Parts: sequence; C-alpha cells; structure tokens
Amino acid sequence: MSRGAGSAGAAPVTVVDHPLVQHKLTMMRDRDRSTKGFRELLNEIGMLLAYEVTRDLPLEAISIETPIGPMEGRQIAGKKLVLAPILRAGVGFLDGMLSLMPSARVAHVGLYRDPDTLQAVEYYFKSPSDLADRTVLVLDPMLATANSAVAAVERLKSRGARDLRFVCLLAAPEGIAHFQAAHPDVPVWTASIDSHLNEHGYIVPGLGDAGDRMYGTR
Ligand code: PRP
Ligand code: URA
Repeated sequence: MSRGAGSAGAAPVTVVDHPLVQHKLTMMRDRDRSTKGFRELLNEIGMLLAYEVTRDLPLEAISIETPIGPMEGRQIAGKKLVLAPILRAGVGFLDGMLSLMPSARVAHVGLYRDPDTLQAVEYYFKSPSDLADRTVLVLDPMLATANSAVAAVERLKSRGARDLRFVCLLAAPEGIAHFQAAHPDVPVWTASIDSHLNEHGYIVPGLGDAGDRMYGTR
C-alpha cells in the first residue's frame, strides 16, 4: 500500500498495490474479458479494497466467554457503516463489500455523466437518515473528471455525513486534483492512478466504460 499521492493539506490518497488487487485489475482491463468475468473481478477487488479501507476503524473492548473461560475481545466500535455506491457502476463493489460487512447500511446515489458536458446529473438518491453518526464509504470504480464523485459527496454531506471515504478502482490525476480541491477532508483509496484523461473524459489507459462493461450494455 502506498500513501500520500495528491495535494498537500488534503486527506491522503492510498494506492492499494497488493499483488492480488493488481493481478485482478490487469485481468479486468483486458478488452477481451467477458461481462461475467469483469463483474466477478470487480466484486472480488471490492472485497480486497474493503479490507484496506477499514483497516483503521476504531475497536472497543467486549467481554465474552469462550468455551474455556472469560476474555476481553475486541469489536468494531460505533454504528454500522454505510456503503454508498454511485449508480450504476458503483454497485459492482457492493456485494463483495457486503459479504465482509453484512450489517452495513446502503445509500444509493443515482448519477450519470452527461456525455457532452461531463457534468454529473442526479436521478436518484436514497440514504439512511442518520448519516452524521456513521462512517460512509462512497463507491465508484472510476474517478475520471471527479464530477460524479464530487457531486455524490456533496449530496451525502448535505444529508449530514461528516466521516466519508472514497473508494475507486482507477483514478486519473486530474480527477484526484479536482476531488481533493472540492473535498480535502475525504481520503481516497484506489487500485491505480492512471496516466491522464482523453478528450472524451475517459481514463487512459483505463478499462473503458465501467458500467457498460459490467452490464453488457454497449
Ligand atoms: C461513470 C463511472 C463514474 C463516472 C466517472 O459513470 O461509473 O460514476 O462515470 O466519471 P467522472 O469522474 O468524470 O464523473 P456513468 O456516468 O458512465 O454512469 P453509469 O455508471 O451508469 O454507466
Ligand atoms: N467513466 C468510465 O466508466 N470510464 C472512464 O474511463 C471514465 C468515466
């Protein structure tokens, strides 16, 4: 894991360079990967990223009895986390993360990127009402211009969220700079920082359109 990319003063960007993540990511990037394979890999990487993004969650002591005797164990403190996938492609992380955190709450953030303006357009939003008391993991495989991520975090903050973390698969340097300028308090986890954006706002080399590849809609 390497930390610290991004601008000074902003929360860190962590690149999860674990070999399993990098191996699976390369498989996903391959243009010949099937829809089924792409979806399975995104799900698996979601689990691995969940492990890293929750690494520093606070623990509290709890008294339990093992079959041999009493002990002081540890459990995650506070209220259950909220997973907030940005529709559609963010849903690809959800099952993997929920298999590790089965009691997490889910906030759905429906946004699409207008292909001409590249601005994020909201079409759906539903979240738990007590976001202020919970850690929120915002999920989207792609941080390109960051217009979608910035809008999603703004929306969640407007509903009270204060402790947010953004999780993606690929990030463009331009997207990281935009996101950190808008939300310097929100740390980012990604499996890769790619080269740049092309003239259509796609990440290069990237993996193409994540939603289309996940759902076979192209
Ligand atoms: C894709 C992706 C992100 C967004 C990233 O979604 O899943 O949400 O683009 O681009 P940005 O950083 O420039 O905003 P898209 O709008 O294609 O919708 P989809 O997930 O429904 O396919
Ligand atoms: N959205 C995608 O799905 N892919 C990109 O490269 C950029 C935005």
